[in-house]
Amino acid sequence: MFSRYKKDAKANPVQAKTAPVAPTAAAPAAESVTLRKPVKLERAKASASDKDRKRKERLAEIKLELHRELLDNLNLAALEKASEADLRSEITSISTEVLQERAIVLNRQERDQLFKELYNEVTGLGPLETLLQDDSVNDILVNGPQQIFVERSGKLELTDITFKDEKHLLRIIDKIVSAVGRRVDESNPYVDARLADGSRFNAMVPPIAVDGSLVSIRKFKKDKLGIDDLVNFGAFSEEMAAYLQAAVATRLNVIVSGGTGSGKTTTLNALSSFIDNAERILTIEDTAELQLQQTHVGRMESRPPNVEGKGEVSPRDCLKNALRMRPDRIIVGETRGEEVIDMLQAMNTGHDGSMTTIHANSARDGVSRLENMIAMAGIEMPLKAVRSQISSAVNLIVQASRLQDGSRRMTSITEITGMEGDVISMQEIFRFQRTGLTPENKIIGHYTATGVRSHFSERFRMWGYDLPAHIYEPTVG
Ligand SMILES: Nc1ncnc2c1ncn2[C@@H]1O[C@H](COP(=O)(O)OP(=O)(O)OP(=O)(O)O)[C@@H](O)[C@H]1O
Ligand SMILES: [Mg+2]
Repeated sequence: MFSRYKKDAKANPVQAKTAPVAPTAAAPAAESVTLRKPVKLERAKASASDKDRKRKERLAEIKLELHRELLDNLNLAALEKASEADLRSEITSISTEVLQERAIVLNRQERDQLFKELYNEVTGLGPLETLLQDDSVNDILVNGPQQIFVERSGKLELTDITFKDEKHLLRIIDKIVSAVGRRVDESNPYVDARLADGSRFNAMVPPIAVDGSLVSIRKFKKDKLGIDDLVNFGAFSEEMAAYLQAAVATRLNVIVSGGTGSGKTTTLNALSSFIDNAERILTIEDTAELQLQQTHVGRMESRPPNVEGKGEVSPRDCLKNALRMRPDRIIVGETRGEEVIDMLQAMNTGHDGSMTTIHANSARDGVSRLENMIAMAGIEMPLKAVRSQISSAVNLIVQASRLQDGSRRMTSITEITGMEGDVISMQEIFRFQRTGLTPENKIIGHYTATGVRSHFSERFRMWGYDLPAHIYEPTVG
């Protein structure tokens, strides 16, 4: 675990690491002004010719036929208990019979591929299964049966994987949602679910989805990125990590702000590693994604209403209940509604060191979002009182961003220091300084302190996290 400036690491003399994360010396001085051609999305392994396409279509038809045959012939009840090897050999033998009966000739590679796909079709999620098993894929995005995109290292690419038709896609969606007791059809056209492996799943079906069902899957990573990984990836600098360690360990209330898919949950998870193992932590999420390393963790998952509109347990319900469960810290996966009231109250009343994420593009924007959420929750309070509540509850806003080159970075760390008149006062301590763009459209830049000393430095010192002064000095890029 990261422990550069931790109390018990005093034996190791602290060395300033002033080298910027991204090379800057060789960087072009300013961003190029030439108009760039947009980079075209290319099919990952686009089928080369018409012949290939026809063959693929034929294989898809054969697969469908075989699948029907299999469903007729397989004992579905016994299927649950069958071992993988048994099931594979059963599928192979039934399929081989059918292929022989119909005099369909396939080469070895096609047969192997077909049997693999059939196995996925019968036991798993059909065409999605290969993508779910591919660890380099972060997100899977289906736009109708013929178009499946994946995200790898922050970049979207079109795959050559397709569903046979909309019916096939709907069947797989139905398989997923019925497994978690939900339903999706014309009257309930969209649904959230969690796959067996923990991946987050959302589907929207026609007629709301115009060109065929839309499916979005955020893959569950078994090994979440830790602080060291994130520093190695260049998501933030070592100095920032040392600062964040002090902030979390000394129980500042932290909000991670960012856009969709910007790495908020990953950052929150990584920050949680700085919490002491002796503390009782309660987590509240819509879909349980956080993986805390501590021993004493109580996890809660809110629940949307069922088909009859009953049985909802909102994040706010969980949060209210959590306050009666003697938490040392509360972590809310995302604050997006009325639970903001209870979150701020918790932060203000003894559960300091709590953390959450919000959807916003900057620290300022994050504060406005909090104000709006409070107004939407129907709390009639003068704006000044609302702001004073926010400023005394929230200590730190960490901004996560997905930049245009697909990289995810912590672009700013901002402290909330109090109120000046009617305005919440803030000071930025660290930020990502962009300096240019490579010809491949990769962003060049480095992390730097702003030169402002932390408002909490005395607190850090008192708690034994004596951050050296150079940590707040700007890096010359
Ligand atoms: N610094 C990083 N470098 C590379 N990949 C990252 C980084 N941070 C996050 N990721 C990956 O990006 C994906 C999105 O991250 P994450 O789920 O944390 O985003 P989020 O902001 O919480 O998204 P959402 O808005 O959908 O909740 C994940 O697959 C995660 O593993
Ligand atoms: Mg998230």
